Amino acid sequence: MLPKEIKKGIYWIGGIDWDLRNFHGYLTQRGSTYNSYLIIDEKVTLIDNVKYHLADEMINRISQIIDPAKIDYIIQNHIEMDHTGSLPTIMEKCSNAKIIASPKGVEGLQKHFRQNWNFRIVKSGDILDLGKRKLHFVQTPMVHWPDNMVTYCPEEKMLFSNDAFGQHLASSERFDDEFPFNIMMHEAAKYYANIVLPYGRQVQKALKIVGCLEIDTICPSHGLIIRKYIPQILEKYKEWSANEVEKKALIIYDTMWKSTEKLAHSVQEAFETKNYQTRMFNLQYTHISDIMTEILTAKYICIGSPTLNNNILPTVASFLTYLKGLAPKGRIGLAFGSYGWGGQSVGIVEKELESCGFEMLEQIKLQYIPDEKILEEKIKILISQIQ
Ligand code: FEO
Repeated sequence: MLPKEIKKGIYWIGGIDWDLRNFHGYLTQRGSTYNSYLIIDEKVTLIDNVKYHLADEMINRISQIIDPAKIDYIIQNHIEMDHTGSLPTIMEKCSNAKIIASPKGVEGLQKHFRQNWNFRIVKSGDILDLGKRKLHFVQTPMVHWPDNMVTYCPEEKMLFSNDAFGQHLASSERFDDEFPFNIMMHEAAKYYANIVLPYGRQVQKALKIVGCLEIDTICPSHGLIIRKYIPQILEKYKEWSANEVEKKALIIYDTMWKSTEKLAHSVQEAFETKNYQTRMFNLQYTHISDIMTEILTAKYICIGSPTLNNNILPTVASFLTYLKGLAPKGRIGLAFGSYGWGGQSVGIVEKELESCGFEMLEQIKLQYIPDEKILEEKIKILISQIQ
């Protein structure tokens, strides 16, 4: 449980959640960290907290540097419980500390914990003087909740960005240059796709502000601290927030008696003939949060379901619910599926994709085991529509 000095007098003292595998429905195969930072200055400052079950781990790390009773300020850049769960425990150790958050942050903390703590509300442009260093606050609402803000320290060129630029990744390494780059970027993409994707416009606003700051270290609240690959992560956030896509098609389906699967393979071949990268996902075997990582850069999203009880398969319904919530923009959709008699599934999928705002290709709906000739005709039409 060692703390890590990032720059002179500034420490990472967060918690490592090695066993986390599910973060509100997001499969976190590599665990996560909740990054908290301690600044030793004339005023001792803690930036963000950890999940409740890691409170002792965080306090142990702080205690190796300073008596937690000496903390003057606790900055809560965000109030979601992965960053505030340990707040009641640390407040028992430093009950006079002032808790600093945005207006929505203070409101949320008061409603959540109902404690008579000493709060200070800060807004964009406000500055907190620690002695040698000053901390500047910038509100970044909806990246990822309405209360979010980031904290910037110009003397150290450090940005404490909270959820922005995070990755769900547990490791003993603390810095991006100590860890395989591709894995870090994959986890950053998965994090963006599953957490930040609905808030592209707000991300772009935040990027504009961040672009004006001199930064050599980004300290997010999850995963690795970024000091080497800042241009790369900023570039990716620009692309993702603009919904830039690649020449890539996803074929996502579930099947009852392999007929919808047969259609899925034909759809995949259609995109292949038009030189698209393709990825096939049977919803029985791939978690919806991993499919979202691919959706982040896919132009076409093709979804297939057979009809079950006048409806779609529950796996497909679950995926569509998740997809709608994350609201990717500017994609093109295709609904397909086989049926026995009712045949409602393709229409239901199509309606759901339309409600996501997707432009739609002509649906492919075939009865029982698809007739080769009819299928060939349908695929010809599909190929003619692919741009
Ligand atoms: Fe990592 Fe929105 O909390």
